[in-house]
This record gives sequence, structure tokens and C-alpha cells, in this order.
Amino acid sequence: MSLLNKHGVLERNATLLLVCSLIVVAIGGIVEIAPLFYLKNTIEKVEGVRPYTPLELKGRDIYIREGCYVCHSQMIRPMRDEVERYGHFSLAAESMYDHPFQWGSKRTGPDLARVGGRYSDSWHVDHMHNPRSVVPESIMPAYPHLIETPLDFEHVGDHLKAQAMVGVPYSEEMIEAAKAHAAAQVNPDSDRYDELLDAYPKAQIRNFDGRAEITELDALIAYLQVLGTMVDFSTYQVESSR
Ligand code: HEC
Repeated sequence: MSLLNKHGVLERNATLLLVCSLIVVAIGGIVEIAPLFYLKNTIEKVEGVRPYTPLELKGRDIYIREGCYVCHSQMIRPMRDEVERYGHFSLAAESMYDHPFQWGSKRTGPDLARVGGRYSDSWHVDHMHNPRSVVPESIMPAYPHLIETPLDFEHVGDHLKAQAMVGVPYSEEMIEAAKAHAAAQVNPDSDRYDELLDAYPKAQIRNFDGRAEITELDALIAYLQVLGTMVDFSTYQVESSR
């Protein structure tokens, strides 16, 4: 009873109440925030997630340049309607090498986090040329210039270097070979085939847009086709140890 009465002191003195409230809130804050400074990584590693190949990275640049993120999100939320429509919900690790991330907040079009492998390359070629040719009711803009524009990947090595600075594990060799790797990914007959696969496991190597020259559309389709395909969900187990 006497302890409860002492609480009356706090209730009658606004300044004291304010100071004590701040102390309580600060303790709560420290408990939540301080451990994060001591953890090396807050993202759980997941098998299969690798950095983008130079060509995919160029495709990602084009995706950002063309503003695709304005209409498309890349994050499947862990809710039943989302999972049934798009597939397994997105894992933090799947965007750990995305700088900047492309989660997005607007869905005029569908989520693209797992669009990789859903359509053929030629579907994408037609869709980018004119979305109405494959989805008659589509309101997506056409991007016919992409297949006409040669891909400028002269300095893709510098791009890998910049990504390495923010923590993407590109090695010196990968940076040095970036330009050759970009060209090798659209040419299954190149002598860098095995080297590319060693550096970027399960990289898809083929002529994406069906044209002889390396175009911006090659890079964009290479990027779209890898989205959401790195983790093998037939073997992936959600950690439930906590
Ligand atoms: C103005 C909004 C808008 C913009 C900008 C936009 N899209 Fe779309 N996108 C849509 C809509 C709406 C659909 C659904 C109809 C369709 O398939 O065309 C769609 C569908 C898609 C699909 C098929 C997805 C699926 O699961 O069926 C892909 C792939 C795609 N867009 C890629 C892109 C890319 C790449 C860009 C940038 C070059 C882009 N979109 C820009 C609105 C947009």
C-alpha cells in the first residue's frame, strides 16, 4: 500500500514524471538497439544467393533508369493471397546484394520478385516491344527502343567495384573480368563459359533477345530471368529455432 502511495509523488510532479518516463523509454530503446551494433550481420545467410553477374547488373541499371520500379514492387509479403499468386514470400537474403533495393511500394503491375523463369525470353521480347501483343488488356508502356540500343558495358567493371565498396563480395578477378563476363553471358559458345559459371553459379548463359548484337534488352531480360530464382525453395527450410 505504501509503495502505491509513493507513486503519488510522481503523479503530482510533472517534471519528475517526465524525467522518469524518459529513463524508462531509454532503457527500452537501448535493449532493442544496442545488440544490433554488435551483430556482424542481421541477415541470415541463405544458400544459392549470389551477387548479380555483370550483365544482370547492367539490366538492373536499365530497370532503374526506365522507372520500372514506379509500377512494379519486388517484395512478396508473407500473406496468403501474395504467396498463392507470386510464390514463396521474399527473404531478406534475396535482396542483400541489391544496392539500392527494389522492394518498391507501388503495384500498378504485378510484383516481379519471382518473375524469373515464369515466361520465355521471347515472351519478354514481345512484351517489351508492345505489352498489348501478349496481354491485350495491358496498360504497361512499350519499350521498343531497348532492342535497338546497343548495350554500353565498357565500364561495367567500375560498377562492380562500387558495389564491392558497399559490401557485395566481388573479387578482384571478377571486377577485372567484368566486361568479358558480360559479353560471355550472351554467347554460349564463348571460351569463358565455365569461368562465368564458376564465378556466378547457375548463371543463365544464352542470347536473350535473339539478336546478334548485345543490346540493352539482353541485359534487362537476363536480369528479369534471374529474379527470385537464386534460392531453391524445394530444399529451403525456414529457420524455426527462435
Ligand atoms: C505504368 C506502369 C508500368 C511501368 C512503368 C512498367 N510496367 Fe511492367 N507491367 C505493368 C502492368 C499493368 C502489367 C500487367 C499487364 C502486363 O503483363 O503487361 C505489367 C507486367 C509486367 C511483366 C509481367 C509480369 C507478370 O508476372 O505477368 C513484366 C515482366 C514487366 N511488367 C516488366 C516491366 C519492366 C522491365 C518495366 C520497365 C522497363 C516495366 N514493366 C514498366 C505496368 C508497368
